[in-house]
Amino acid sequence: MIGGVERIGQKLLFAFDPETAHGLSIAALKAGGSFCRGPAREARLEVKAVGLTFPNPLGMAAGYDKNAEVPDALIGLGFGFAEVGTVTPLPQAGNPKPRIFRLTQDHAVINRLGFNNEGHERCLARLRARTGRRGIVGVNIGANKDSSDRIADYRLGVERFASLASYLTVNISSPNTPGLRALQAREALAELLEAVVEARDVSDAASNKHTPLFLKIAPDLGETELDDIAAQVLAKRSTA
Ligand SMILES: Cc1cc2nc3c(=O)[nH]c(=O)nc-3n(C[C@H](O)[C@H](O)[C@H](O)COP(=O)(O)O)c2cc1C
Repeated sequence: MIGGVERIGQKLLFAFDPETAHGLSIAALKAGGSFCRGPAREARLEVKAVGLTFPNPLGMAAGYDKNAEVPDALIGLGFGFAEVGTVTPLPQAGNPKPRIFRLTQDHAVINRLGFNNEGHERCLARLRARTGRRGIVGVNIGANKDSSDRIADYRLGVERFASLASYLTVNISSPNTPGLRALQAREALAELLEAVVEARDVSDAASNKHTPLFLKIAPDLGETELDDIAAQVLAKRSTA
């Protein structure tokens, strides 16, 4: 259920195509973000996980703030955490427009953006500029569409962002980058996990900080594929 103010806001945003509306909402947060006061602290909502204490369990998922433009404004709005990205080593344009489609009756959207983002460098600069600020900000890392070595792209993401991120998400879930989900297959996944955990451990040792790593997988995998992924993750954990 949404109330009167939200309904007006929604009507306004729905006057624009979805991607323009998305851009306008980011611009509004950039302009007014400092008025936001932060998550209400309520002990019953706190979630302790992976060594972090989330003030509440509702976070902004990856894909909204792809370029780390407004993580503090999102936390100021009340989100328990903000996950920026997916960010790839080099900037990329993503798929041709239109590439977001509203399914209004279903309260849903179809997203075919294809990792449009400004690349590591811009994202890094923004995250460095907020060093020392409070709030859980995760960084979701990906691979460039035309990369010749996707695992190297993820390794680089860990090397560059681990010391700045509250946690990292290795995103191999997207159907919009052809072949990306192949990294979920047994051998490719073992190689990917080896690379990202090693890079994380090196960074942790250098920065004296622990950076939890999440693996974001596709939501529509079958039981066998899930078993395979779980086996690879458990194998990695037992050797890490
Ligand atoms: C427009 C849009 C863009 C997204 N972009 C990304 C992305 O860049 N990286 C990512 O890991 N997930 C991305 N997602 C997926 C979301 O992070 C999230 O996993 C998904 O929407 C499911 O959560 P929900 O049921 O709360 O919407 C995107 C989703 C949408 C709707």
